[in-house]
Amino acid sequence: MSKMNTEVRRRRTFAIISHPDAGKTTLTEKLLLFGGAIQLAGEVKARGARRRARSDWMKVEQERGISVTASVMRFEFDGCAFNLLDTPGHQDFSEDTYRTLTAVDSAIMVLDAAKGIEAQTLKLFEVCRLRDIPIITFINKMDRESLDPFELLDQIEQTLALDVVPVSWPIGMGQHFAGCYDLFNDQILLMKKGSGPGEEAEVCKELDDPRIINAVKPDLLEEFKGQLEMAQGLFPEFDQNAYREGHMTPVFFGSAINNFGVKEILQGIADHAPSPRPQKALEREVKAEESKVSGFVFKIQANMDPKHRDRVAFFRLCSGHFKRGQKLRHIRSDKTINIHNPMLFLAQSRALAEDAWPGDILGIPNHGNLRIGDTLTEGETLHYTGIPSFAPELMQKVRPDDPMRSKHLGKTLRQLGEEGAARVFKTFMGGDWVIGVLGALQFEVLADRIRTEYNIPVHFESTTLFTARWIEADDHRVLKKFHDANQASIAADHDDQPVFLSRNAWHLDTTIEEWPDIRFLKTKEQNPG
Ligand code: G4P
Repeated sequence: MSKMNTEVRRRRTFAIISHPDAGKTTLTEKLLLFGGAIQLAGEVKARGARRRARSDWMKVEQERGISVTASVMRFEFDGCAFNLLDTPGHQDFSEDTYRTLTAVDSAIMVLDAAKGIEAQTLKLFEVCRLRDIPIITFINKMDRESLDPFELLDQIEQTLALDVVPVSWPIGMGQHFAGCYDLFNDQILLMKKGSGPGEEAEVCKELDDPRIINAVKPDLLEEFKGQLEMAQGLFPEFDQNAYREGHMTPVFFGSAINNFGVKEILQGIADHAPSPRPQKALEREVKAEESKVSGFVFKIQANMDPKHRDRVAFFRLCSGHFKRGQKLRHIRSDKTINIHNPMLFLAQSRALAEDAWPGDILGIPNHGNLRIGDTLTEGETLHYTGIPSFAPELMQKVRPDDPMRSKHLGKTLRQLGEEGAARVFKTFMGGDWVIGVLGALQFEVLADRIRTEYNIPVHFESTTLFTARWIEADDHRVLKKFHDANQASIAADHDDQPVFLSRNAWHLDTTIEEWPDIRFLKTKEQNPG
């Protein structure tokens, strides 16, 4: 097999989706622990704390105790190279999460065993479904009082319209949780509550093993045997194709905090999750094994280190073997970029990437020339598709405390708009800056960033605006006519694309009805061409 095929086949690029508090951070940490990327549990949080201590660029993150930034973590397990893309769990930052999901090939869905599917799980699942992202389910916190396993599986099946296949079956729950039956290998894993890899479970081959008799009360064991028999008869066989097409989800039970079930889920991804999938571009579908390098930017993070005012573009390599120093064509500007200091993200640090393979995520430092949705290739004209920009749900005007700084503010807002941190509009009449976001917390994050990163104190003022729609028409004269008739409701986004700002739902609906030749777009593809 060629080196390219070997490297593509061993890569797994995935994300974890969950409702806040289900245990995503804990599972992430344990995956890194089992993948040998960190030595001690607790380091993920420590890393966060250290990073925050180094800079104050995300005071809000500190104050609110939420994670608002996505990062990438890299580790190896069982011969596979894993790229785990962290998705911010807070619902206010879902836009970033949606975009991160455009860069993965599969996902783990973490559920709290006591709660089952929650609002945010459902939202994120729907994004995965849109992109046919295969999902492995991890039902966490079995060491707490939980819902009945049949009820949990039924909920997944009914709510998500997915076939479910239990890979393991829990023995007891809450304080009686003793471990799981491994349905794929017909063996029993008894939980040991150890502190690290190798210490989490004892393997028993038979149900009458004295260790099981010792650990599990007789009535509980009887109940479990009944459930197991039922489960074995009730659920379909695991079908890898159905999973990879997104119709079936294998389900693991466990307790991340006790390391239990973590190795199994890693093994599950290594054995079944897809390696880098073909990616759709406007022009054609691109296979990972193709020899020429190509990929797209799905996230921009500015000022990761405020001393350097850097911006890092997160670039998903879709095809080819990338080497440091390679010159790539930036399709939007048709310029060549020399990628001489690409970064790989390890659990605790960044390192210079000497090379990278399809599925890998590179951090490309730049000064604002790279934007979300941009494609880079070795020469071919390609535009990767499917990276959305969403219509905002909340809009406020932003003004500098010192009016003399308004020109600087304009520049700053444009940068933030390019970065994808918020929608930024300049009204046609009055020249006001209007910021549109999906969640109210984003205003605070932005005000804080504008203050600390750009040194411009600002305040937000509420508006009566309802939402924004990007407007398009085949005939530019129609667009001009619309513009002239609705001057007070027209603005431009950071790319100077026209948008319609509606005052309320009625205003939007009647305008759409009145102007059938205008397309009112709720999402804008980032830089489609
Ligand atoms: P999130 O990233 O999805 O928001 O969840 P996170 O991992 O932070 O976990 C949320 C809470 O649930 C944490 O408790 C965590 O310790 C706990 N937890 C995670 N996995 C398990 C599990 O398998 N069993 C039990 N019993 N608890 C689990 P916390 O008190 O909010 O935080 P902390 O003080 O432990 O850091």
